[in-house]
Amino acid sequence: MKVLIIGGGGREHAIAMAVSKSKKVEKIYCAPGNAGIAEIAECVPIGAMEAEKLADFAEKNGIDFTIVAPDDPLVAGTVDVFEAKGLKAFGPRKNAAILEGSKAFSKDLMKKYNIPTAKYENFTDPDAAIKFLETCSMPIVLKADGLALGKGVLICNNLDEAKDGVKQIMLDKQFGDSGNTLVIEEFMTGREVSVLSFVDGKTIKIMTSAQDHKRAKDNDEGLNTGGMGTFSPSPFYTNEVDDFCKKYIYQPTVDAMRAEGREFKGIIFFGLMITEDGPKVLEYNARFGDPETQVVLPRMQNDIIEVMEACVDGTLDKIDLKFDDNAAVCVVLASDGYPLKYEKGLKIDGLDAFDDKDDYFCFHAGTKFDEAGNVVTNGGRVLGITALGDDLLSARANAYKATEWVSFANKYMRHDIGKAIDEQ
Ligand code: AMP
Ligand code: GLY
Repeated sequence: MKVLIIGGGGREHAIAMAVSKSKKVEKIYCAPGNAGIAEIAECVPIGAMEAEKLADFAEKNGIDFTIVAPDDPLVAGTVDVFEAKGLKAFGPRKNAAILEGSKAFSKDLMKKYNIPTAKYENFTDPDAAIKFLETCSMPIVLKADGLALGKGVLICNNLDEAKDGVKQIMLDKQFGDSGNTLVIEEFMTGREVSVLSFVDGKTIKIMTSAQDHKRAKDNDEGLNTGGMGTFSPSPFYTNEVDDFCKKYIYQPTVDAMRAEGREFKGIIFFGLMITEDGPKVLEYNARFGDPETQVVLPRMQNDIIEVMEACVDGTLDKIDLKFDDNAAVCVVLASDGYPLKYEKGLKIDGLDAFDDKDDYFCFHAGTKFDEAGNVVTNGGRVLGITALGDDLLSARANAYKATEWVSFANKYMRHDIGKAIDEQ
């Protein structure tokens, strides 16, 4: 089989690595890919949002199966473009990717089908939003409806901050048209857990749990980022939580999408908050998480292509999803300054330390080759250093040890990834 992966970050590198282990696959392409992905796939210089060009490429090159990994192309309907040409593509169609593409849609869905989530109201009129805020207790959460690179959520501690937030999102359009509709949501406290799942329209199979660290600095300080590190499994995802979510969240979400005529095939990523009143949905994503994927897929035993084909074909009930009884930790090496201003084009040394090490992975997030053929930084998040271990403590020690093997000017990382492990 020939497989095309759309995307070019750490998540796509982890997917490509899993695909490279499939016995069904003889050739992998990745568009646009990066310098790390280039070691296992042929990188194609077509952007992830160029759906027509990507489908033409797939048609001309006899691609059997395409994996659409990032949120933007899914929400824009890339899978529909492929299917219109009779090509097989993994991921939700446009009418189902709305589960991530519109927070107002997903909140209304949860309300309609009694799926536990924070109380909320949707607004299209800023004055009405401010009037409502005057009746709310603080803190309160404001969310831009649409995609905003994970940055469209504001947690406001008082009414002035909240009013200013409405201005930023709805009037100044800090997140563009994503802010045409605003969700105002009750503030929840508890442990956050990420749960990824495969879905075939009817059946859902849950992967092992993970936890992300979204803030830029140690102790969860600094700005929100795409994610500075992850660990898997989460010790807070107990059997009791799993049972509850299976009954009240996972299957009900899949059934709700089907009942709405929006059959969901692909990955549903449940962002959960384990509150005192039980688990509640913080958000849905319609794709693999980044950097959750980097700690989840190295622990999966199945042939990923078999599982993904079962999702597209509607035969996921036949698959027995299995994960190793171990742990993984991923520490993101970023360019200092991320998520604001940072330099690119800095030479990276030491990458070959990962060659021939089965329990260590250096997933490239933002890298490219310069004209001399050196691997250089090409983004804010540069590498995701991942290590396995028998348990979380050893995986974390291994991952931090491996962060020392690579160097580049401006290398920055958090030093407390997995700190929550110590608190259980
Ligand atoms: P989201 O993009 O919806 O996951 O939001 C980003 C982050 O904001 C989450 O990972 C939480 O840390 C925080 N957050 C979102 N919604 C809430 C909420 N209702 N209560 C507390 N924190 C929240
Ligand atoms: N790591 C969070 C996300 O992928 O949305």
